[in-house]
Amino acid sequence: MNDVDRALRILRRGGVVAIPTETVYGLAADAGNGAAVARVFAIKGRPRNHPLIVHLASADQLGAWSRPSDDALVLADACWPGPLTMILPRSPLAIDAVTGGRDTVGIRVPAHPLTSQLLGEFGGGLAAPSANRFGAVSPTTAAHVAADLGDDVDFILDGGPCEVGVESTIVDCTVRPAQILRAGAITDEQIAGLLGAVGDAAGPSRAPGMLAAHYAPRARVVLAESGVQARSIAAGFDRVRVIDGTDDLGGYARNLYAWLREADDAGADVVVAVLPPPAGLGHALRDRLTKAAAHPHGNR
Ligand code: TXA
Ligand code: MG
Repeated sequence: MNDVDRALRILRRGGVVAIPTETVYGLAADAGNGAAVARVFAIKGRPRNHPLIVHLASADQLGAWSRPSDDALVLADACWPGPLTMILPRSPLAIDAVTGGRDTVGIRVPAHPLTSQLLGEFGGGLAAPSANRFGAVSPTTAAHVAADLGDDVDFILDGGPCEVGVESTIVDCTVRPAQILRAGAITDEQIAGLLGAVGDAAGPSRAPGMLAAHYAPRARVVLAESGVQARSIAAGFDRVRVIDGTDDLGGYARNLYAWLREADDAGADVVVAVLPPPAGLGHALRDRLTKAAAHPHGNR
């Protein structure tokens, strides 16, 4: 039996499988099975009111799971399969266990050949958060998932390293103009270009779980505005790593979480990370780095 068939069999009987996507690995369960979804929350240690994204094989299924707005249809057409999640009014298929009892559902059609095949054969939706413990750095390889979750997950579908490396852009399409709740590889500029306008998501985030402190390694993260500044900050510490991918933002996003994990594995106390300018993919990188730096734990 090949790996996709094995994953399929486990998901159909209510198991939990780590799946590769172009952004990060997800911890997937049948979105129509409340008990299977409950296990995902238990494995992650995630609060039950933080809703999960439903992953679908194709945009053709959007109408079955939600009531898509005109904006949503434009975005689905332009960006799927790809690193975009839309928040939409839910249909009865989106159960409370997935939405946390909200009247909206997050939906995404991921772009990874193995997961596209899996979703196509599964037919239904797969509810999947990132496959890390709550608050920690998202996994971008199967080895990261194994290191984090070990035997708690029934199977890891290994699809190689993730191509994008940071979580999907989340766009709230229940309001007009649509609002970006989480920056990602589909940029603010692209969304504004496609929809004509994009709103400012002022006030507390309406995506539960988008905490100010998140995505954090064990090491303390300190931010720098340039490589020169980073090296001068780093000179003040013994066990320190400098992270700077600002010469290639695609590579920075692809490698960021692996670099944070490597710093932990090497026993670094401090990571000094250089912030890219706030444009394009720079928005997503600044968001993740700022949240990692806001984590109060010091060394966990
Ligand atoms: O790239 C990604 O989006 C990855 C891969 C696996 O698809 N998934 C991911 O899931 O990052 P997660 O659960 O770690 O982050 C999803 C975010 C959470 O902050 C959640 O609160 C928000 O999406 N979300 C999901 N459904 C929502 C809804 N109905 N309303 C508001 N926020 C929602
Ligand atoms: Mg996550």
